[in-house]
Amino acid sequence: MTHATRTAEECILVTGGTGHLGRDLVGQLLARGRRVRVLARSPGHDPSVEWVRGDLSTGAGLPDALAGVTTVVNAATFSPIAQRGGLRLVDLFTTPSAVDVDGTRRLLEQCRLAKVRHVLHVSIAGLSEETASLPYNKVKLQGETMVRQSDLPWSVVRAAPFHYLLAKLLAGMRWMPWWFLPDGVMDTVDTADVATYLIECIDDGRLGMREEIGGPAALPLPELARQYLEARQLKRRVIAFDVAPRTAARLGLVEARGRKGTIAWSEWLATHADEPRGRVRHTPLPARAFTSSEGSTK
Ligand SMILES: NC(=O)c1ccc[n+]([C@@H]2O[C@H](COP(=O)([O-])OP(=O)(O)OC[C@H]3O[C@@H](n4cnc5c(N)ncnc54)[C@H](OP(=O)(O)O)[C@@H]3O)[C@@H](O)[C@H]2O)c1
Repeated sequence: MTHATRTAEECILVTGGTGHLGRDLVGQLLARGRRVRVLARSPGHDPSVEWVRGDLSTGAGLPDALAGVTTVVNAATFSPIAQRGGLRLVDLFTTPSAVDVDGTRRLLEQCRLAKVRHVLHVSIAGLSEETASLPYNKVKLQGETMVRQSDLPWSVVRAAPFHYLLAKLLAGMRWMPWWFLPDGVMDTVDTADVATYLIECIDDGRLGMREEIGGPAALPLPELARQYLEARQLKRRVIAFDVAPRTAARLGLVEARGRKGTIAWSEWLATHADEPRGRVRHTPLPARAFTSSEGSTK
């Protein structure tokens, strides 16, 4: 199919289009003149997007959102840890599954009915039965497994933790004078880099498991924390402790295999402020503007 034919016929539905990754993805798609629909609990006002009000946790709006859609990118999630910017005791025991598991199932059923040509699901680098020990990671693995077992044309892109999430988690530790951190490596990545890669995966149309994507460099968590403190001009003592590779993997301290983003952690810190810490939200935030940046300031 030529580029012209494809773009004339295509309609790309982005779930989670109002989230961190989703906003970058939608912005980059719009900048390339692509037709984009966003399923959102709280639709925005940007007229260049086709908004459909919907909710993956109930299935509301899905048939309308999928009518005439050729490609779906499932970038929706409900992560209490990411929303709060902190891990609580409760997160070690439970996490909601209405969006990431039940919502994914509903989405797949409706994609089948709508004869969608490509379902691209966003997941987490390094997930496995053995390493998914946090309930959120278990739920993500369950959602990903449903996609992989479906008879739809699917692909999965797994990404390393996003820079914004690490910054939010570290910001939540500001009150502590000493930071005890496990000495495993991670390669956090910017959402703009992941969005650029997702578009490549939409356009080449290849199905199945795609290469994972991480940031340009993998560094030990204590070093990432030191860079954070320096960028934010904070004085805290970072104390690294050794962890076995298996424990590190369970804590999400793994390096993504495959694709490397372009925006380094230090560069991201220099161009982004910390987000305010939040609470777990059961109602959506008002939609914010899309950014078309391919790896720069926001
Ligand atoms: N954050 C990371 O470090 C990281 C790392 C690797 C992979 N990922 C994956 O990347 C994807 C995007 O993550 P993110 O950090 O960009 O997420 P995010 O900023 O928390 O955004 C989540 C999106 O999901 C939507 N959503 C939540 N509940 C919904 C519901 N009931 N129905 C429909 N939409 C709903 C949210 O919209 P509302 O405005 O309605 O809440 C928002 O648009 C997820 O699949 C995540 O697992 C994330």
